[in-house]
Amino acid sequence: MSNEGRDVFRAPIGTRDVLAPESDRWQALVACFAQRAGRAGFGLLVTPIFEHIEVVQKLGSSTDVVRKELYDFADKGGRSLALRADGTASAVRAYVQNRPVLPWKVWYVAPNFRYERPQKGRYRQHWQVGVEVLGLEDPDIDVEVIALADGFYRELGLRRYRLSVNSMGDAASRARYREVLLDYWRRHADQLGDEMARAEANPLRLLDSKHPDWQDMIERAPQVGEYLTPESAQQFERVQEGLQVLGIDFEIAPRLVRGLDYYSGTTFEFASDALDAAQNAIGGGGRYDRLAEDMGGPPTPGIGFGIGIERVLIAADSEGAFAAPEARLDVFVVDAVGGTEALVLTQELRAAGLRADRAYGNRKFGKQLAAADKSGARYSVILGPKEAATGHVAVKDLASGTQIEVRRDEAAAWLYTRLHP
Ligand code: HAM
Repeated sequence: MSNEGRDVFRAPIGTRDVLAPESDRWQALVACFAQRAGRAGFGLLVTPIFEHIEVVQKLGSSTDVVRKELYDFADKGGRSLALRADGTASAVRAYVQNRPVLPWKVWYVAPNFRYERPQKGRYRQHWQVGVEVLGLEDPDIDVEVIALADGFYRELGLRRYRLSVNSMGDAASRARYREVLLDYWRRHADQLGDEMARAEANPLRLLDSKHPDWQDMIERAPQVGEYLTPESAQQFERVQEGLQVLGIDFEIAPRLVRGLDYYSGTTFEFASDALDAAQNAIGGGGRYDRLAEDMGGPPTPGIGFGIGIERVLIAADSEGAFAAPEARLDVFVVDAVGGTEALVLTQELRAAGLRADRAYGNRKFGKQLAAADKSGARYSVILGPKEAATGHVAVKDLASGTQIEVRRDEAAAWLYTRLHP
């Protein structure tokens, strides 16, 4: 049934509205990320909300996201499309299509769509800030990308999180590992039942299964680290060394394979202890050195991460960090003369750089004063007939209640100086 059968229209299940003051925090979070990414040489990338379905399917045919969670549809021209499920597929598609100069470093903020079972911290539309770097193999970039995420969490005030890193190795490492792992699953085929088909399609996928009866078996499964080629092992060591040099704490997680199929080499995840274990990942990413080629582009290494905005804010709440910034009004205009004066003065105040609002609709003077108090503004500017006769306005400090007269033509400058000493 449309609109979940309710009388009052509601947003679809698993989606949320973000209103002020929560949206003020949201805005501050994105500004903080944009600033850090900008300082590290990343430019903003904006891509469509929907893509040809083949682009989104690059997250991997054996992943839950592609198998069960895509928002896919045919448009009126019969094209098969899907809402984006992450930022990486779109970024790499944009790279392959536009062929920008390498290295290409981009950041983004965008919603993603996955048909999940909604719960706190898990939504059908969630937002990510993230970065992608195309065209660099140097392990220093792996370190810098991880450091960017870590510095961002720290700047927001998060402390109770852990960084796990792993390496999935290069193609040769992974090919050997997949064989050994598949062999291992086949020896447990009875226990795995129907899931054996999934193991055949991609043996790595079973490693992050949450099935309670399989945890022992998963625990004893061969680990990717044992099958890294010397080059991959050396690359991974350089990443660890870089993290140590920068003083970034991490643990090695040999079973961290991540939930998407495009990964190779370094993978990492940040988990918050302030969230429920089932959805404690506040961000994650890694290398995807084959993805550009897989999308028809030239072979180009890539690395990046995505950070879930909603989850970061929930974690911040439970840590008592990153309070909503104060978005107070500077001035509230109260009008006792009528005509166009309130309209003109309010625009003037705004043009001078002040946050200004006013009462509308010729309300009674007392009601307007009450509205000024309720607005939370620092000052009210009162347009009164007595003051107007001498070219003045009354300026009232709403906290102390003191009131003085200021020349009308100097009001904006006077207030600006008071508020920005
Ligand atoms: P991901 O691990 O699927 O990776 O998502 C990244 C982050 O988005 C997660 O750590 C989590 O914070 C948040 N997130 C994911 N799904 C949900 C959901 N249903 N509700 C709320 N938050 C969610 C990626 O998406 C990769 N594209 C990351 C990447 C970039 N890898 C390389 N470059």
